[in-house]
Amino acid sequence: MTMALTGKVAPYKKGFGPFPGSVYHVPYPSQLHNISTADTLIAIERLFKADIDASQVAAIIFEPVQGEGGFNVAPPELIAAIRHLCDEHGIVMIADEVQSGFARTGKLFAMDHYAHQPDLMTMAKSLAGGMPLSGVVGKADIMDAPSPGGLGGTYAGNPMAVAAAHAVLDIIEDEKLCQRADALGERLRIALLDCKESCSELAQVRGLGSMIAAEFCDAKTGEPSAATAQRIQKNALDQGLLLLTCGQYGNVIRFLYPLTIPDDQFDAALNILRSVMKH
Ligand SMILES: Cc1ncc(COP(=O)(O)O)c(C=O)c1O
Repeated sequence: MTMALTGKVAPYKKGFGPFPGSVYHVPYPSQLHNISTADTLIAIERLFKADIDASQVAAIIFEPVQGEGGFNVAPPELIAAIRHLCDEHGIVMIADEVQSGFARTGKLFAMDHYAHQPDLMTMAKSLAGGMPLSGVVGKADIMDAPSPGGLGGTYAGNPMAVAAAHAVLDIIEDEKLCQRADALGERLRIALLDCKESCSELAQVRGLGSMIAAEFCDAKTGEPSAATAQRIQKNALDQGLLLLTCGQYGNVIRFLYPLTIPDDQFDAALNILRSVMKH
């Protein structure tokens, strides 16, 4: 079921299947690719006409800041419109914060940047700093709907992972990691924008807090250039810096350093990044 949810075919769905039905995707707003919030809302409206009646929709699931999809940030009007649609039709609004949660965007959760609240939130990754733990958090009437013991699993509530999650929350607070995410992200953003003149393929730097990405497009045609992203990734690797790509076209480099990264290590990474981008 969850594999049907991802909006990225390669590599996650290619060669797999069949997938369960009744999972639909709509385009995510992207200024660079000329997709507006209105386009997204029109696509939802079309789904409600062409594929499924709004009253039958169980949930609308979205990432407030896309991970795999390319670190696009949801415009506030999109979040407001989803909240409105969900309230109007009795749909559960689910924010997937698996990648954007736990201080990464400069607030504890990316949804804290918006005026509206989801009904459910999914979380994992930084939740326990690498220990295997994930969670679903939500409004009591939904969370309490299964009978006691109705939801379980082999690893649910793993004591060591839960202890790690407590430590993570303490460290986020004690070391002011939300502020640190903003500060590091700002330095990264400036370093990337600094390379714009020498790297004409750098089409956009975007993100929130430390959830920053750089998108590369052909300087002449404006077409997404995965080759540029891969070249930068390879040259950085040769100098000891691991970078990760994302985006529907594989032409985006995302930055996911730990927020506890020592300053000198972060500086060294920025220096490698600058030198690779300038070449
Ligand atoms: C946004 C997002 N949601 C969900 C998942 C899957 O989470 P899990 O690996 O905990 O199943 C991932 C990546 O692993 C992700 O980036």
